[in-house]
Amino acid sequence: MQYTQLGNTGLTVSRLALGTMTFGYQTDESTAARILGKAADAGITFLDTADVYPLGGGLERVGRTEEIVGRWLHGQRDNFIVATKFVGAVGSRPWNQGASRKHIHEAVNASLTRLNTDYIDLYQLHSDDPATPLDETLYTLDTLIHSGKVRYIGVSNFLAYRLALALGRSDIHRYSRFVSVQPRYSLLFREIERELLPLAQEQGVGVIPYNPLAGGLLTGKHRYGAPTEGTRFTLGTAAERYQQRYWHERQFETVQTLASLSDSVGLSLTTAAVAWVLANPVVTSAIIGASNPAQLDATLAAINTPLPFELKQRFDELTQEYRKGDAAR
Ligand SMILES: NC(=O)c1ccc[n+]([C@@H]2O[C@H](COP(=O)([O-])OP(=O)(O)OC[C@H]3O[C@@H](n4cnc5c(N)ncnc54)[C@H](OP(=O)(O)O)[C@@H]3O)[C@@H](O)[C@H]2O)c1
Repeated sequence: MQYTQLGNTGLTVSRLALGTMTFGYQTDESTAARILGKAADAGITFLDTADVYPLGGGLERVGRTEEIVGRWLHGQRDNFIVATKFVGAVGSRPWNQGASRKHIHEAVNASLTRLNTDYIDLYQLHSDDPATPLDETLYTLDTLIHSGKVRYIGVSNFLAYRLALALGRSDIHRYSRFVSVQPRYSLLFREIERELLPLAQEQGVGVIPYNPLAGGLLTGKHRYGAPTEGTRFTLGTAAERYQQRYWHERQFETVQTLASLSDSVGLSLTTAAVAWVLANPVVTSAIIGASNPAQLDATLAAINTPLPFELKQRFDELTQEYRKGDAAR
């Protein structure tokens, strides 16, 4: 494993982080424990979760993933950097979501209980909440850092201009700054290269991308047509979102071309796709995910597989079209 600093902070994290959003719906608890154990054995020290997980489980299952992670962390909490998120709806009342002072206090206490810990290393907004003034959110998060419940704060799915605004407001008020951003990033989604990544680089904000395999499409295992049962693309409430993101003829054509290229140098596309994310010097850690432990073999291998220069160049050229725009998700 490789380790690095998270942005401008003194916090050391592994360059592969383990995402947990399959735990508690697609993946049962004993399988989740084997995935966590295998990742830890490979040197992963950075875990990412969220209060709304498991993915696809709907409102009635909210919180299960954090509970599973919390039980697994028992007796070994200090060996891991634990990141979680809030903002998504965890209940049906209007204030059971967002980044208001009221919801942040409720959300952080609930996450601490489920995670079985008295501190969260990295507490992230899961997405922007334009309805709440940024100053209200930043002030409240600053108090959480001072109280010790939270060590660092970050954002996910933010447009670049909103992150820039937030950093400016923190500086004016001398509140704690966001130290990281968690965007979607892969060979099939490169929009953040235009604005968000340059901002992060200039401001010393760490970048921890999710979806490096486009939900599994970049493994090359799917065929265009009816989505494969038991995978991300048929998974409960998430199926539609993932099909809208990636289940298009053009993306399948690109995946096929990328797969032939990586085959030609003896690399699996799965490994090469994660290695491509890690090869971007602005990226701190790539968040990998799995629904069973065997899947980790190809993704963990990315850490020891520097992408051959010419392959990276070809990948860059072939996926230029996925660079347009500057979407948050
Ligand atoms: N902030 C956000 O909004 C956000 C959004 C998404 C994710 N995340 C975080 O990022 C983490 C990773 O995201 P992700 O799971 O979407 O990453 P991903 O790498 O794009 O997709 C992982 C999925 O691909 C499939 N897969 C992985 N390795 C494979 C292999 N070797 N062979 C075949 N299939 C394989 C599995 O799905 P199947 O078994 O279903 O095919 C696995 O769950 C999440 O757990 C979460 O912590 C954050």
